[in-house]
Amino acid sequence: MALVTSRIRYDVGGGNAWRRFSEAVRAAALHDGVRSVCEPGGGARPLLDPDFVSAKGLEYVVLDISQAELDKAPASHTKVRADLMSPDLGGLGTYDLVFSQTLAEHLVDPVVFHRNVLRILRPGGRALHFFPTLYEPTMVLNRLLPESVTQQLLLWLQPRRQRGGKEEKFHAYYRWCRGPTARQHRRLESVGFEVEEYVGFFGHDYLFDLSLLHRAQFTLARALVRHPIPALTSAAYVVLRKPGATTRS
Ligand SMILES: C[S@@+](CC[C@H](N)C(=O)[O-])C[C@H]1O[C@@H](n2cnc3c(N)ncnc32)[C@H](O)[C@@H]1O
Repeated sequence: MALVTSRIRYDVGGGNAWRRFSEAVRAAALHDGVRSVCEPGGGARPLLDPDFVSAKGLEYVVLDISQAELDKAPASHTKVRADLMSPDLGGLGTYDLVFSQTLAEHLVDPVVFHRNVLRILRPGGRALHFFPTLYEPTMVLNRLLPESVTQQLLLWLQPRRQRGGKEEKFHAYYRWCRGPTARQHRRLESVGFEVEEYVGFFGHDYLFDLSLLHRAQFTLARALVRHPIPALTSAAYVVLRKPGATTRS
């Protein structure tokens, strides 16, 4: 079995997971020497708001395959239309920090994705990715059921979602979307990254409107935080580092 050297931690999921990732990205953006930041798959809802970006003097590029999604994002952000699945992604420049939120699960080829991120990172730069994970049962269902069924289920569970609105639903493959297993470490290292940190979350908010089930699920989630089973996380984020110099000249 591979030696896992990253810091592995666990916590409860749902809103807490989104918050924890947002804090991790902000902390990484404030790190010494970070000036240029790229968010692939930022789409309609880029994580950093224009005030944060301008207050910190960051160059922030939101990259997405869909012009329709980019058009919904704040007008003041720099937006670039590009396909992360393109094996010869070029002309995008290099960045001190690259991060993505709920993009990885939608990509059919994780090797191409992570290689592209490695390519647009400067040496010593970091990549942070937040994604839902298998084999939490809800994610397994989402993976196995036809899109027409999961779309209806999601609208039923979360009626505030409107078809074609700000929160579009995208097909999820969950390739390389797992908790902090030894295999995940090997996969990410095989692309050329050092894995610095891996945080797994148990439980999620999809059942929020079904309060009994929601509470039962979080009771189980808290037990799993105390006695973690990496294969049962519902989401995770990973902090990757491209080997090389740590600071800009
Ligand atoms: C679930 S949304 C996430 C949007 C945003 N990051 C968030 O957290 O709300 C996934 C985004 O990834 C984009 N996307 C899907 N495949 C992509 C690809 N091959 N290259 C770039 N972006 C892609 C979609 O257009 C969409 O905006």
